[in-house]
Amino acid sequence: MAEVTLEQVNKHYGDLQVIFDVSLSVKDGEFVVFVGPSGCGKSTLLRAIAGLEDITSGSILIGGDAVNDVPPADRGVAMVFQSYALYPHMTVRSNMEFGLKVNKIETGERKRRIHEAARILQLEDYLNRKPGQLSGGQRQRVAIGRAIVKQPRVFLFDEPLSNLDAALRVQMRVELENLHSTLGSTMIYVTHDQVEAMTLADRIVVLNEGCTEQIGAPLALYHRPETRFVAGFIGSPKMNFLPVRLTGVAGNVMTLTYGIDSTITSDTFVAPETGNGELTLGIRPEHLTVCDLESGKLGATVRVIEALGSDTYIYADLPTEEQIVIRAQSDTGVQRGETIGLRIDKGSEHLFEANGRALGRSK
Ligand SMILES: Nc1ncnc2c1ncn2[C@@H]1O[C@H](COP(=O)(O)OP(=O)(O)OP(=O)(O)O)[C@@H](O)[C@H]1O
Ligand SMILES: [Mg+2]
Repeated sequence: MAEVTLEQVNKHYGDLQVIFDVSLSVKDGEFVVFVGPSGCGKSTLLRAIAGLEDITSGSILIGGDAVNDVPPADRGVAMVFQSYALYPHMTVRSNMEFGLKVNKIETGERKRRIHEAARILQLEDYLNRKPGQLSGGQRQRVAIGRAIVKQPRVFLFDEPLSNLDAALRVQMRVELENLHSTLGSTMIYVTHDQVEAMTLADRIVVLNEGCTEQIGAPLALYHRPETRFVAGFIGSPKMNFLPVRLTGVAGNVMTLTYGIDSTITSDTFVAPETGNGELTLGIRPEHLTVCDLESGKLGATVRVIEALGSDTYIYADLPTEEQIVIRAQSDTGVQRGETIGLRIDKGSEHLFEANGRALGRSK
């Protein structure tokens, strides 16, 4: 087990810079998840930690030792890929054993480790099968087993569950949570999946175009996004963004005007002293409540209703033609084409300046 530290890591592919000054410290035993849009550099960063990519400048430390010049096999890391990368002609046992033989681990110890990994991953009945005779979830468990038997200091996962169907993903996600608490190892995990990121991570690193946007506990990112990008990236359905004008400040209360005459007050933020008063209001779908038109802060016409059983997503058009998503209870009674009023839960609003930074909070 070990901590992983990145210090001002930069990476170029030829003239193209893809990682910009990333600094990050993953604690011993911590589960850190990298998220961000496709192409933002998640895999590149993970592969750099594994030693599969050189970095252009900066340092990578594992367990306090600089590993920039240490080959992948000697870094004490094990990586699990989306594609499993199992040897098709070898049994499950041989797949797990192969790396250990290469590293000259003696027979008894190899057996012991394989037995233990098979027990943890419930693969004991499949050790003599070949990958082609296994389900997707079982194959992915073998790929994880191959990492476990190496007894790495750090586990690196690159979208390990993305080839699995929805139900199996949920099951494997719970198994990974168990694995982390059983082994207590340092784990770095890349995913596109919101739920995986929110549930598995001690901390989430949000990457955007090769830079870290924000690093924090899942709920800290959800409740206190520092940028509009993070606000839009964390949470599903996405946060609604509306252009507003700052039309008054009295004490710590800001008056914001949306469209022609919708006014919203907020005492959650410190009013900006500079700028032209143009701000972006962010409201999560779950922080909007349907009410009658008169008492609503906003009025909107319902376009689409998606009833999911547990809850309902209402997609509606505001008079200014912006679209808004509301997450409501399962039985809303709302009809398509109806004009509804919307209330914003007190204190739930977010405000961003034109440069995308969140306003400072007054409380
Ligand atoms: N071998 C390479 N040569 C040149 N550019 C590359 C190479 N590998 C990756 N890139 C570029 O580096 C950037 C980061 O790629 P990376 O694979 O790290 O993205 P990612 O965040 O993992 O994306 P995804 O979510 O799609 O897997 C992309 O713009 C990609 O095109
Ligand atoms: Mg990737």
